[in-house]
Amino acid sequence: MADNSTRTDLFSPVKLGKIELANRIVMAPLTRGRVNEEGVPNELNVTYYVQRASAGLIISEATNISAQGRGYAMTPGIWTERQVAEWRKVTDAVHAAGGKIVMQLWHVGRNSHVDLQPNGASPVAPSAIKAGGNVYTAKGIQEPSIPRALNTDEILGIIEQYRHAAEYAKLAGFDGVEIHSANNYLLEQFIRDSTNHRTDQYGGSIENRVRLVLEVVEAVTGVWGSGRVGIRLSPVTTEVGNTPLDSNIMETYGYLIQQLNPFKLAYLHFVEGTTGKDRIAPENVDLDILRSLFEGAYIGNNNYDLEMAISRRSESKIDAVAFGRPFISNPDLVNRLRYSIELTSTNSDTHYGHGEKGYIDWPNANY
Ligand SMILES: Cc1cc2nc3c(=O)[nH]c(=O)nc-3n(C[C@H](O)[C@H](O)[C@H](O)COP(=O)(O)O)c2cc1C
Repeated sequence: MADNSTRTDLFSPVKLGKIELANRIVMAPLTRGRVNEEGVPNELNVTYYVQRASAGLIISEATNISAQGRGYAMTPGIWTERQVAEWRKVTDAVHAAGGKIVMQLWHVGRNSHVDLQPNGASPVAPSAIKAGGNVYTAKGIQEPSIPRALNTDEILGIIEQYRHAAEYAKLAGFDGVEIHSANNYLLEQFIRDSTNHRTDQYGGSIENRVRLVLEVVEAVTGVWGSGRVGIRLSPVTTEVGNTPLDSNIMETYGYLIQQLNPFKLAYLHFVEGTTGKDRIAPENVDLDILRSLFEGAYIGNNNYDLEMAISRRSESKIDAVAFGRPFISNPDLVNRLRYSIELTSTNSDTHYGHGEKGYIDWPNANY
């Protein structure tokens, strides 16, 4: 059987910050909607993650840092002790299977609905601009509600939500956390001038728009120390909700990335292109140049296949590669890629909801 590990070091161990990985193949964060309305993980989730523990690193599905941060029904949380206890079962099982797992910390900002918010409150955002697209509530698909702009003095409370979640993720036994600053959720809503029209110290100039994400990074690294906190950015995606891009991507994200360097993060993780759609960037944007401003390890994601990963790795454009959809339907993706075994295609009908079906019933290949 052909062994692709003779052609690339993607199948060899690597350290991202202080996190030691058995290989450079990462499972991208994947929301799967298999959690109850209290956001408490369960046995199904344990099975699902253990089946995928041969990934060098699992990045958990996006996990709500607070009840306010929630924008989709059946998504997990990390703000109650019950959630910590049940996540602990996931991390223990992944570790027993030889894997590593970090938690993706999520606040959706405006991508929510009053039905999902405590006491039917409006979702919060940098500015009161309604998101496009849909959100999933217990009643089904609905349009996002018009958000309320956060007052300046409420921002400390948002940072505290991240700090608290980071602490609880530590108690739950994760190997680190990934700050979800991608896909136009709260942090990216602050970064982009298309979604941030504020006039206080969190809006206007680039320095002001990236202030919140840097304050969140400071709070989270305060809990975890350096080397165990990663960050996900998606400078050119319009997902979710067909969100307009920033008017000066190279300058805004370039400044942000340089400001991240002193925090000695475990890694920077980009969605390279439009999430799950294409790898196209506007003409004046070069994501490889942006990435090169970062002094730590880099994970590339979005529409990769093995050959693209090998090629970009050989040019030192990535340190590791994250696969999303392929991990849904190929729990043993690492071995399949290594030995050129055909991949099973995923079924988008069962991406969200549907219990066991399309979740834990994907077989490993025969070797
Ligand atoms: C079902 C599904 C759920 C996803 N959930 C998340 C998520 O929770 N957090 C996130 O940052 N990205 C999420 N994404 C985006 C993926 O992490 C990834 O960026 C995207 O699928 C492109 O990678 P791929 O081409 O390898 O699938 C999701 C994608 C899919 C298909």
